[in-house]
Parts: sequence; C-alpha cells; structure tokens
Amino acid sequence: MDYKAKAKKLVSQMTLEEKASLCSGRDFWYLKGIERLGLKPVMVTDGPHGLRKQLASADHLGINQSVPSTSFPTASATACSYDRKLLKRMGEALGEKCVSEEVAVILGPGANIKRSPLCGRNFEYFSEDPYLTGEMAAALIEGVQSKNVGTSLKHFAANNQESNRMVGDSVVDERAFYEIYLTGFEMAVKKAQPWTVMCSYNKINGTYASDNEFLLNTILRKKWGFDGLVVSDWGATDDRVQGVKAGMDLEMPGASSDNDAEIVAAVKKGSLSEEDLNKTALRITEMILKSQEEKPAPEHVDTHHNALAREVATKSAVLLKNSESILPLAKNSKIAVIGEMAKNSRYQGAGSSRICPAFLDNSYDALVEAGACVTYAEGYSLGNHKVDQAKIEEACKLAKESDVAIVFAGLPDEYESEGFDRTTMDMPESHNQLINAVVKVNPNTIVVLQLGAPVAMPWMDQVKGILLMYLAGQAGGSATADLLLGNVNPSGKLAETFPKALADNPSADYFPGEPKAVQYRESIYVGYRYYDTAGVEVVFPFGYGLSYTTFEYSDLKIEQKDQLNYKVTSMITNTGTVAGGEAVQLYIHCNESKIFRAEKELKAFDKVYLQPGESKTVEFELDQRSFAYYNTKAADWCVEGGTYVILVASSSADIRLKGTIELAGDGKESLLSTSYEALGEYKTPSKPFRVSDAQFEKLLGRKPPSGIRLPSEPFTVNSTIGDIKDTFIGKMILKVTKKQMKKMLGENSDPTMERMMEAMVFEMPLRAMKMAAQGTMTTKRIEGIVAFANGRIIKGISKMF
Ligand code: BGC
Repeated sequence: MDYKAKAKKLVSQMTLEEKASLCSGRDFWYLKGIERLGLKPVMVTDGPHGLRKQLASADHLGINQSVPSTSFPTASATACSYDRKLLKRMGEALGEKCVSEEVAVILGPGANIKRSPLCGRNFEYFSEDPYLTGEMAAALIEGVQSKNVGTSLKHFAANNQESNRMVGDSVVDERAFYEIYLTGFEMAVKKAQPWTVMCSYNKINGTYASDNEFLLNTILRKKWGFDGLVVSDWGATDDRVQGVKAGMDLEMPGASSDNDAEIVAAVKKGSLSEEDLNKTALRITEMILKSQEEKPAPEHVDTHHNALAREVATKSAVLLKNSESILPLAKNSKIAVIGEMAKNSRYQGAGSSRICPAFLDNSYDALVEAGACVTYAEGYSLGNHKVDQAKIEEACKLAKESDVAIVFAGLPDEYESEGFDRTTMDMPESHNQLINAVVKVNPNTIVVLQLGAPVAMPWMDQVKGILLMYLAGQAGGSATADLLLGNVNPSGKLAETFPKALADNPSADYFPGEPKAVQYRESIYVGYRYYDTAGVEVVFPFGYGLSYTTFEYSDLKIEQKDQLNYKVTSMITNTGTVAGGEAVQLYIHCNESKIFRAEKELKAFDKVYLQPGESKTVEFELDQRSFAYYNTKAADWCVEGGTYVILVASSSADIRLKGTIELAGDGKESLLSTSYEALGEYKTPSKPFRVSDAQFEKLLGRKPPSGIRLPSEPFTVNSTIGDIKDTFIGKMILKVTKKQMKKMLGENSDPTMERMMEAMVFEMPLRAMKMAAQGTMTTKRIEGIVAFANGRIIKGISKMF
C-alpha cells in the first residue's frame, strides 16, 4: 500500500481527539505521532543553508547548540550563481544530511522578496526579483526532496521585514501581491511541490497569514495545486479553528494542548466541519508516512559536502570592481591582509538559520595554505566597532610595505539579523575609515566584503578591486583565496540592486512603516523594476558582475512556436584567455502599455561555463506568463496586444542583443481595470519615489489603514508585550521574560542575540507567549493577562509570576 492509501486508512481509524492532536507539534521540533496506530513522530528542523538540529535546549533564534553541519553560503549569495544545477546539488547535500540525522523536513528555503535593503533577514532571501527567486527556490527544493526529505517553503507571504514581524499588516495592492510577492512562491510550488509551506507571522491586508483562507486554500491549493501541508511559522498561529478552516494544518511549535481542544470543541459545536479537520489530519499523516519511507543512509556527509560548500561559494561571489585588472593577484605579490574578518569570517547570518559549522576556514589561512606571500593586521576589532587609530596605523604601515592591500570588511552580526531591521546601509565606521586610510597609502587596495545585503561604499572610487562574497559559508575563506588568486574565475551576478543611497530605494519612505501597518506604496516597482523605470542611477545594477574573461553575445533567434510561445536562442562565446561562467539574462520590455509596467522584467536566464574560445548556444522558452501582467478585474494573468522587445543581456544595464515581436494579446483588454488608466503617478514613477495618499488609495481600492500607533487599547491577545509594557501586568511580564532571556542566553550572550531577543519579546503578541513559555502558559492565562491589562481585577494573577 502506498503512503497515501495508508494515510487515508489511518485517518479513518482516528478518533476526533487524535485527529485534532496531530494539528500541533509535540514540542519545538517534533510532530506528534499516534502510538495506538503505529504512527511515529517525526522531526522537522531549521536550515536552510545547513541543518540546525538541536538535541538539547530548543529555540527558534539560533541561540542554543545544534549538531555540526556543513554551512553553505546563504541565499543572498547562492542566488548570484544563477546556477540551477548548483542549487540542486546543494539541495541534495542538505537532503543527505537530513537523512543521516533522521530529520523529515528542513525548514526552508525562504522565498520572500527583498523589498528594502534594510530587511534584517535579506541574507536568507534570494532576490528582489520574483522569477529568479522562484527558480532558485525550486532548484534547491528539487535537490532536497530527491532524497525523500521534505522542505518548507517560507515565509508565505508578504513577509518582507523583521520590524513587528509577528503583528505587522502588509498593506499591498492586489497586482503587486501576485506579480511581486507571490510569483516566487508560485513558481517553486508548481515546479518542485515542496512537501510543506510555512505561513508567515504577519497579516496581509488585514488577515493573519495563519487564518487566511484565500491565501492558503484558494491561492496555494486551488490555484497552484499545492498538495502538501501548511505549517505555521513558530508562534504564528492566531485563531486556531479559523486556521484549520483556512487550511493551516500544523501549529508549531507544540506548546499546550489548548488549541487541539479548541478544535475538538469546535467540531462538536458544529462551528468547524469534521471534513475540514479530516483534510488537515490526512495531509499531516501523509507527510509523516512519506518521510518514513525507506531511504539509504549516507555516511560522512559533512566531509563530502565541504568541497561543494567551497564550489558554491566561488560560483556565487560577485566581482564588483576590477580596475587595471588588479585581480587576479599577480604571482609572487607581497600581500597585506587587513581586517579581522580575514581571520574571523562572517560566513552566516544570525537567527534561526544559524548553524554549527562542521568545519570552518578563513581567508588568511587559505591564502597562506595556497602559498601566497601574506602579512596580517587586524585593522579593527569585531568585538568593538569604535574606530581604533592604533590598529589603522598598524594596517597602513603594512599596506605601505606591500604590493597590494586586501581589506576584509563588511557587516558584523549585530548589524543585520533575523528579528530586527537595519536602519542605515552603512558599514561600521571602523571598517570605512580603515579602507579610506589604507587606500591613501597603497592605491592597489582591494576590498573583500562579507555581508548579507547592500551597503554604502563611500570609498568605492578610490579602491581598485571589490569582491563581494556575501555570507559565504564555512568554506568561504578558501573560496575567497581561489578567486583572489585566479584559481577560479568569478562568475556571480547580483540578484539585487546596490542603490546609491537608501533614499533612492522606492520603499524608503514606507519602511518599516508604522508599528503595525506597512504600506507597500511602490506597488510593482521593487528593485530594478523601479530604478530602471524612473531612471535612477545606481551603484551596481541588478544582474551585474565582472569576470576575468570576456563574453560575446551573437546570433539572436526568436522563433514563434505557437500563439504565445517563443523559443529564443543566442550564442555566447568566451573571447578571453581564461575559462569562465556567464549568467545570461533575458528581459522583456513592453513598448506601449495601457497599464503601468516596469521598464523591463527578467523572464529567463541560464548559466554557461566556457573554455577560452568556446561557444555555446543558450536556449530560452517564453510563454503566456512571460508577457502577462496580473489583471485584477479579470482576476487572472492577461497579455496585452502590442510590441514586445526581447532583451538578451549580461546585466539589467548591459543589453547585448535585442529583437522585437508583435503579440496579438489574449483579448482580455476590455477587462482592464479602469483604475489603472487613472493611475498617473504610477505611470511615471518619480525620483525619489512618492505617491500621494489618494493615488495609493485608488490602487488599493480602499483606504489604507493608517498607522496604528502604540499603545492600542483595549488590549487583546494580539496586543504585544510592548503594547502593555506600561501596565502593571506588562511590567511583570517584561521583568520575568528579561530574566528568562538572560538565563537562555547564558554564556552565549552576545549583542546580536540580546538585540534579537529584546525585539522578539517586545513585539511578541500575547497569544504567542504559549510558544515562548513552552507548556506553562495556557489560553485561559493569556486571556486573564489581557483582562488584567485592561483594568479588570483578576484574582491570583500575580501568583503566575
Ligand atoms: C523563523 C522561521 C524558522 C522558525 C523555527 C521562526 O522564528 O521565522 O524561519 O524556521 O522560527 O526556528
């Protein structure tokens, strides 16, 4: 009997209580089983750039220890590889690790869009572009799942910031929601069928993702054909019964059985149909059984995966600047290696994706090992971001005596993390001043950047080389040495724009929004879609990256296969003297649109690796969806008739070949929403981006909620601990949680974790205290706290603390 049939049979044998019990986890990482029926519990665990399997104390912020696991580069890096096969191989490795650790599902990848460079979690996300996001996520999922291990595509949906992440309302217009924020998820679901999808913490246009029937049952299941289970982000459950109706199957982590009991009561009362519960129980049982099917257990996976981690890091790095071909380094040059990050790399991000690396190298050691002639100066301290003149002077002395100076700099952990957003794009002054000083004494200065998101580079014009490693994983040091020395040719291209200033970013005025509502005023104009359309100059455009070789593009052919299907081919030749990889990008431009559209949109890409002199033909398929926009009136994807330009490009700003086609359209233009025609300000987006209240209201089709300021009374279970901080009970809760926080952090205490936990506590809705308290907090108690905060006298409440 296959697992589906077996699951059906098992569910038919379950009591109402047993079915409801499956709807929440056993603890932080395990799903429950049902002993009576031989259904065994399974483990799900964080990743997704390695495995964070915790054996002892559990947490969702990366605080406690986990088993060693290969640390791969994070998504902001891997997206730059534009290499589906590579991502698939990385996924296979993650899957093997899960099998060897008996983990059923790895919690990732993240497919949220980088709306602002400031989102603290951007390092975990792929791109500002939905197509690239979808392709990369799908490739990783395919790899993991080929090992019969599940993935959890997260955080569904419109979860694009960390500020107020558990209670924020993402106010986004319908078209942008489909075109920008859902497309990556849609592609990954349709192409790779992740076993699970994780719904996000936030609300979308007023409804929590975990309660959102339209999002989960209608869009995800009915429209996209998803047949896996939906799991809540840790503590994202709002109204449990509504969640089951909406198709939110599994509440994680398990905390108390209150919510299971609520489900039982609702079925008995008739406010929840047993049919809905059966569907949920079936999806959970199917997943458990599927994960327990026989699979070969691989051995010594971490040893095998280190080389892959290095390969992924080299193929993902982006060479941003290379004046006078300063790189690769000339043989036998005397190199001053400067900056603590050369020895103490920042190779992964903080938060729930933080893992314990199986091995860890660094760039300094890797250069020494490769036989390079290096000296070292610390330049700054990672423990204290004050400018240290003595360290800078020492570095300058070394730089002066050397042929080249390589400064390792970037964003330390405390600067970007899950749990909070950045407020500026600046690197620490201690890093910037060091670079400024070094370049003054040695013009042959190269900067190697370790960070998860774009930064301002005030020294950009002075230095000769910039190599962007992002957060390159445990083998990032060796990868850096490989690239600097020219053993490997850089081939990464940016998956996001580096703007000149934060104020140029279209979300700048609306990020992170009012405490509990963030207006996505820029609509579809995210990343290069805005910069290109509004003609805003950027530092490094989307899709950009240099190589040690050169590529020629030729022979563009566009062949119509049928009405809206085209085959586009082009020849790429390596015209330089070293082997190299090229990420070839295909954008489309619609010549005259009746609606507002971005100047160009990425619709296909391929990565080719070529020997010197070698040529290869790249082939792209375009279909209806490649030309379509989301028509809110038709509630469907529609194609306007007209002239479309096909752009085959080396970056969004470097178009190599162009061809035009005429499309008849799909005849749905009469359905064009009238509001689009009136949307003047969106037709020609301004610089800086500004849209009036009236215009946004028109686009949204309703008045956007005005920023709901804190504190908001009367308090509810969705008020945050921060909201009630001035009440007597709020003060007590804060005192207790701070104490618990300290205990939890223990010896691990570091400023990033402290900041992350503080934000978490402050912004946590009272209902989520069940998760934090793991078993000691019940719905009744929380309701008591709410009533007390609202001024009602609750007997015995102080005994709780
Ligand atoms: C994060 C998820 C993560 C979960 C479990 C949450 O706080 O948003 O990405 O998978 O914790 O650790």
